[in-house]
Amino acid sequence: MAAPNFKQELVGVFGQPVAENPTQAMVEAAFRHHRLDWRYLTIEVAPAGLAAAVEGARAMGFRGFNCTIPHKVAVIPFLDALGASASLMGAVNCVVARGGQLVGENTDGKGFLESLQPLRDPAGARVLLLGAGGAARAIAVELALAGAASITVVNRSPARGRELADLLRGPVRERTGGRLEAAFVPWEGDARVPEGTDVVVNSTSIGLYPDVDARVPLDLGTLRPGTVVADVIPNPPRTRLVREAGARGCKVIDGLGMLVGQGRLGIQYWTGVLPDEAPMRKALEDAFGG
Ligand SMILES: NC(=O)c1ccc[n+]([C@@H]2O[C@H](COP(=O)([O-])OP(=O)(O)OC[C@H]3O[C@@H](n4cnc5c(N)ncnc54)[C@H](OP(=O)(O)O)[C@@H]3O)[C@@H](O)[C@H]2O)c1
Repeated sequence: MAAPNFKQELVGVFGQPVAENPTQAMVEAAFRHHRLDWRYLTIEVAPAGLAAAVEGARAMGFRGFNCTIPHKVAVIPFLDALGASASLMGAVNCVVARGGQLVGENTDGKGFLESLQPLRDPAGARVLLLGAGGAARAIAVELALAGAASITVVNRSPARGRELADLLRGPVRERTGGRLEAAFVPWEGDARVPEGTDVVVNSTSIGLYPDVDARVPLDLGTLRPGTVVADVIPNPPRTRLVREAGARGCKVIDGLGMLVGQGRLGIQYWTGVLPDEAPMRKALEDAFGG
């Protein structure tokens, strides 16, 4: 008979504020489903304590941890290495202990691709991306690495929008063999969906709880039936944009798809097991009350 083991493997999330972050419910549902004796801890870490928290994770043998606001960029100097997309994005949302080293990865954009792939192959896709913050950067870089033909960035603040378009036209295009077309369009009035667009992504925070009726300034009349419309907002999943685009015959993807997708990849990095999606999505739906 095997000796009893009272020591679980540890992972978690460092953020501030973090109390309302539902990732623990989602990840521990996967651990239970796959009988993994692991724990995922939700840990409030202030910016001034980040260096000590990372050292603490090393000292306590954490197998990895997620980073959320405000640590996704600030954590980089405390890590030993970066994965390819995290290095292109300059942001880490998932740290993985590998061979005694802490390696920073970024699974946000990969999680988005997981939710997109069943509806549309990203290779060759023409994409309209609303927003240019952290989520937009992650999505844009992964879409480009997956072979998207063009990415048009629309953002309220021109400086941030241009910076993302420059990243795509520079280092990212270089990594993709020079095929990607990328442009920035200032967000004035209702954004129009250019003819021939395959995928529209809302990667702004418009519509996030409690601002649930907020409208994404988008000219719905320029959306064609069959276009894929994805929203990154996980709470509530059925945002106004998801409802309105669905009513126009678009194929819609809610923000739970990306959240579950990035969570599955994080669990795979840490444990080696790619978990089933269903119990994770169910845990989030329960956590968000619907
Ligand atoms: N589903 C998932 O797994 C997942 C993962 C990561 C993030 N998210 C969600 O993604 C959203 C964005 O997160 P983030 O980390 O990218 O935040 P961020 O870096 O702060 O970026 C926010 C983006 O939203 C834009 N924005 C905000 N309010 C706006 C408004 N009223 N009108 C036009 N644009 C507006 C900002 O434009 P400016 O540049 O002009 O300020 C910026 O482009 C959050 O709601 C978060 O919950 C979801």
